[in-house]
Amino acid sequence: MTETMDQNYSLWADRLRKNQGIRSLMEDLGKATGHPNEILLGGGNPAHIPEAEAIFEETFGKLAKDPILRSLLGDYQAPIGNDSFRELAADYLSTLLQSKFRKENIAFFNGSQNAYSFLLNLHSGLMADGSFKKILLPVVPEYIGYADQSIAENVFLANPPNVVSTGENRFRYELNQSTFDLTDVGVLAISRPTNPTGNVLSLEQLEWMEKSTTKQNIPILIDLAYGNPFPNLIGKESPIQYKEGRTLSLSFSKIGLPGVRFGIVVSDEETIDTLSSFAAVSNLAVGNLGVYMMQILFQENVLPKLSENILRPFYEAKAKLALHLFTEAFEKMGVEYEIHDPMGGFFLWIRFPSLSISNHELYHLCKDKRLFIVSGHYFFPGLNTDFSHSKECIRLTYCRKEEELARGAQILAEIVASHQANSK
Ligand SMILES: Cc1ncc(COP(=O)(O)O)c(C=O)c1O
Repeated sequence: MTETMDQNYSLWADRLRKNQGIRSLMEDLGKATGHPNEILLGGGNPAHIPEAEAIFEETFGKLAKDPILRSLLGDYQAPIGNDSFRELAADYLSTLLQSKFRKENIAFFNGSQNAYSFLLNLHSGLMADGSFKKILLPVVPEYIGYADQSIAENVFLANPPNVVSTGENRFRYELNQSTFDLTDVGVLAISRPTNPTGNVLSLEQLEWMEKSTTKQNIPILIDLAYGNPFPNLIGKESPIQYKEGRTLSLSFSKIGLPGVRFGIVVSDEETIDTLSSFAAVSNLAVGNLGVYMMQILFQENVLPKLSENILRPFYEAKAKLALHLFTEAFEKMGVEYEIHDPMGGFFLWIRFPSLSISNHELYHLCKDKRLFIVSGHYFFPGLNTDFSHSKECIRLTYCRKEEELARGAQILAEIVASHQANSK
């Protein structure tokens, strides 16, 4: 990636070329060398859980043996999915999201990342009425993958959240109601649970925002990649239901199928119809594999049980283990640390308040020791105020094996201990 401006590139291309965030994260994932000492706590890959993999293999096997395979491999789907599949999803999701959907409320995409590149541009930038609308991230840090998806520049808006202490070495971010402002806002985006922090925004706070957004007809995008109805990694918090004004996105990635690239958007009919135009122009069609796997998984009602009986217990146990391993290593090395309550998802968000280097420098020092983490500075798009957390925090995944997490904890603790303001 070069930093130079090139006359052959558009402003958007130039901005993308400078973006080190999601690209460096995904390249770290793809470049893993398989070296035995490598510790991959960086990317958002879900864990390989044998019981879940067995279900997916069986589903895939059914398709591979069925004459339907010819159509799966040899025919295009409609841009956001054929009507019969959308009808099936509308019926199935009506129960899971407590609403009455028609196929006109449902669109399929090649992953929810793909859907967001359309959704964010649909609701922000130069609008048809001549106004310029922005994307409000009500609570940052927020998902790294939204940044730079907008073709227009400077469209993200964010303010520092409230930081609430929840116990010794523990905290939680909450919506700062006093700075909540909808001036020039075209859309709000929230991941629930939040990547990177594992926060799960309370329904009360969501409904508080909706009192203002519904009056002004501003949609809220709620990214349920880790949320309900699947994989449902939302801890003790209540599930999201569909309501007018909400656009929900679901993904098959975090249930264990990131390679299938399949996501579902649930929204009002006009938004879905517009998304179909975006999809036709940019994708031609949604890929078939996810759609056909969805048909089987929905018809056999597999995902709620998979989430409750396999995924949630697995990730909850991993969260406990990771908290134990990292806090033990930090205490042993005299590291000053605070961890965001891991309420959902599968990441730990850790703050080192006495760090004498930036989190980005810390990332490089870790990488030199073959430990991959993600620097927290990427997760604050639109934040123009000084907020110390943006330089002091890192994200790591706890999806990996115990032995790998333990080695990662040790290396991280050693590096941070030797780069604290008080270190000798
Ligand atoms: C919060 C969030 N949203 C969306 C995505 C994109 O997922 P996919 O495109 O695989 O559905 C991710 C991936 O890590 C994510 O963490």
